[in-house]
Amino acid sequence: MIVLGINETSHDASVSLIKDGDILFAGHSERYSKQKNDWYTNKNLIKDALQYGYPDKIAYYEKPLLKKSRLILKGGLSGTNPWFQTTELGDLPRVNFGHHYSHACAGYYTSPFNDAVIVVLDAIGEWNTTTIWSGEKNLIKLKYKQNYPVSFGLFYSAFTKMLGLMPNQEEYIMMGMAAYGDPNKYFNQVSEYFPDINKQKYNFHKGIYDWDKKIEDQDKFDIAAAVQKVYELRLNEFMHMAYNITGKDNLVFMGGCALNSSANTLLWNIFKKIWIMPNPGDAGSSLGAAAALYGKHINWTTPYLGYDLGGDYPVEKIVSGLKNNKIVAVASGRAEYGPRALGNRSILADPRSIEIKDKVNLIKQRELFRPFAPVIMAEHASRWFDMNFESPYMQYTVKCLQPEKIPSVVHADGTSRVQTVTREQHLGLYTVLEKFYNETGVPVLLNTSLNIKGQPLLNDEIDAVKWENNYNFEIFR
Ligand SMILES: [Fe+2]
Repeated sequence: MIVLGINETSHDASVSLIKDGDILFAGHSERYSKQKNDWYTNKNLIKDALQYGYPDKIAYYEKPLLKKSRLILKGGLSGTNPWFQTTELGDLPRVNFGHHYSHACAGYYTSPFNDAVIVVLDAIGEWNTTTIWSGEKNLIKLKYKQNYPVSFGLFYSAFTKMLGLMPNQEEYIMMGMAAYGDPNKYFNQVSEYFPDINKQKYNFHKGIYDWDKKIEDQDKFDIAAAVQKVYELRLNEFMHMAYNITGKDNLVFMGGCALNSSANTLLWNIFKKIWIMPNPGDAGSSLGAAAALYGKHINWTTPYLGYDLGGDYPVEKIVSGLKNNKIVAVASGRAEYGPRALGNRSILADPRSIEIKDKVNLIKQRELFRPFAPVIMAEHASRWFDMNFESPYMQYTVKCLQPEKIPSVVHADGTSRVQTVTREQHLGLYTVLEKFYNETGVPVLLNTSLNIKGQPLLNDEIDAVKWENNYNFEIFR
């Protein structure tokens, strides 16, 4: 049976197509429409997905009536009807799954575990904001839930908005700012907003409206640091509770909060093994809904599941480009499913000088304080970073052990958000790293997404040509 999973009418619409447990396609709406965090699916995205097969059924990531009940009673934002219903797909049989259940299925059914605790933390689903599930063989059971308005995600997003950033979109910028601030200066004040895992000061949908002091620029970094610290403390308490409720030491972590790579690292102190599907936010829930309908583990083999640019990975061009210009852009093969560019829609750079960081930030038109991530040959990771686990999807931030050698990929607090790569995971990218290592003794490159700040990742050939014309920057394909 072929199932088309769909997530829309909230931020980050996406579709996923699976056939008997194999993932045929998974892609993001915004990369087709060019509207960042697009709420709706669109003609070209669906056309692309259907090239891989025509679905027998639709699996939808939410229960619309349940969500409506919350919106009527408590307010909040939501889109209107899903766009896909205006197409012939609207006539297909459709099954709706709960928002948090879709997250749980996206995580557990792609995981390598047959026995795990599944934690879902986001801003809000229909009503649920935090849930704990047990996964045993193919069965997922709810063990704990907390409903709106108490919400880890809304707490974090409300402060994101207070600092002048876009909520539901730029939380990662606030997380990056935290490294530059003093977490203790505003710790007590921020703690009052989230004093324990069951209690918050008020409904954060209204934002933070009673902050009693004018916020200067330096305050922003200190507040970001305090928010991150409070978030990490509450997350730690919550995860201990999840462990105690289920007694399981394999963790599946899902929901938008699982994108907080600084906090994720702390979870290795509690759990033996961790799986965070590389698209843990709502955009991953189209796959979650499809997996929910399948009702069993699906075959997760790669995050490269989107639009296919084809071609062989341009290894030699990249290597000589790095030698001559230090910075190269690459667009090859299938697009990444998830927010991180993992080599197929990437800017890669020589990480050995600090000036490279400013140059890449200027190309991407980003704030100069913003850090970049390293990609490293997996077998070298523990010598360069304080880690004893793999991080193939850039989900953990760890201390860099040789920051003086790769300053452009080390954050102000001495940490890096690491991507490890093996030959099996990405032969082309691995070979580039191997060649760079043989020449320089450094098995690391800077890897950042091929986009301009605030714009979606580059997707197809047309985008590539536009980029080259607009920015006078060749993309290797
Ligand atoms: Fe969600």
